[in-house]
Amino acid sequence: MAKKTVEDIQVAGKRVLCRVDFNVPLTEDMKVADDKRIVAAMPTIKYLLDHDAKVILCSHLGRPKGKVDMKYTLAPVAARLQELLPEVRVQFASDTVGESAQKCVADMKDGEIVLLENTRFQKEEEANDPEFSKKLANLADIFVSDAFGTVHRAHASTAGVAEYLPAVAGFLIGKELGIMGEALNNPQRPFVAILGGAKVSDKIGVIKNLLEKCDTLLIGGGMAYTFYKAMGYEIGNSLLDENSIDLAKELMADAKARGVNLMLPVDTVVAPEFNADAEYKTVPANAIPAGWMGMDIGEETRAKYAEVIKAAKTVIWNGPMGVFEFPNFAKGTSAVAEACAECEGTTIIGGGDSPPAAALPWSSWRARCCPVWPFSMINKKEV
Ligand code: 3PG
Repeated sequence: MAKKTVEDIQVAGKRVLCRVDFNVPLTEDMKVADDKRIVAAMPTIKYLLDHDAKVILCSHLGRPKGKVDMKYTLAPVAARLQELLPEVRVQFASDTVGESAQKCVADMKDGEIVLLENTRFQKEEEANDPEFSKKLANLADIFVSDAFGTVHRAHASTAGVAEYLPAVAGFLIGKELGIMGEALNNPQRPFVAILGGAKVSDKIGVIKNLLEKCDTLLIGGGMAYTFYKAMGYEIGNSLLDENSIDLAKELMADAKARGVNLMLPVDTVVAPEFNADAEYKTVPANAIPAGWMGMDIGEETRAKYAEVIKAAKTVIWNGPMGVFEFPNFAKGTSAVAEACAECEGTTIIGGGDSPPAAALPWSSWRARCCPVWPFSMINKKEV
């Protein structure tokens, strides 16, 4: 059965708690530096306002670790919201579920907005504490989940609260899932999937699913070394997901049987230690020296992968190609990100670490996951 959305329920006169992702960058003088995420939440907010709901917005901003830290206040977001909706009364509550929140909500009329202070100022938020969830729920009659970038987190304001209120999805969630559903169920071809990250076992479900659908699967990152091992290569001190060697063999056989072009790095950047300043060199895939470890895909692999990606009509990417936190080992991930940006087709990037990596060549853009498939959509023209 299809999930219910805001359009399936009566919201007029109701207090609607809407979890949005207002995790936006702020300038030093505490202004919103980039309002894309606020704008992305607008269709749901406007729908609720137009249908005479009392719109209570909540979000996290940054990672204040359960303490009040005014570096992460949502007050600048309330100011930006007011600019975007000059006709609408926007109140900002200086706490999340306390006196201020209760007073603002009690004081609001249909078609108005209250933005609650950062949910992560409360340690109960990330602990998904039931009492905190109940307090949030007590502010409202209905819960709307529309924080696509955060919906994978089992926190009080994203998951816990839905136990205590009728819950539906907002338009942003619907849009993103629709884009991903289309890309996965009816992909324009060639359909190229790129997978990186540390462990094969972490992504087994994803890989199996993709093998049924994609034309080419590019493997990079730490998991590549488990595939190397499965092929009988020596991998030195590279990351090895020991329990997944047979799995890697199975996956390669499955790809072959399905006619999927599963590509592994033909060369790899290696270092003698896991260190940003470590000495490094590029070696062929089957020549990793003893005592050295793979840190990134090599130049030849970057070129090959880029060629495949640029020619694709659909690209899905999850997981970095190397240790992108260290600039010397970020080149593979950057090359893939650049190729995605140059690809004319639909490009979906997300999950775990690949979005921050995608930000490397361009901006501070970040995205995250959703529970069904850990990806978020970017329109590369905006990046
Ligand atoms: C993001 O920016 O990725 C989301 O808002 C989630 O933030 P988090 O990774 O701090 O949970």
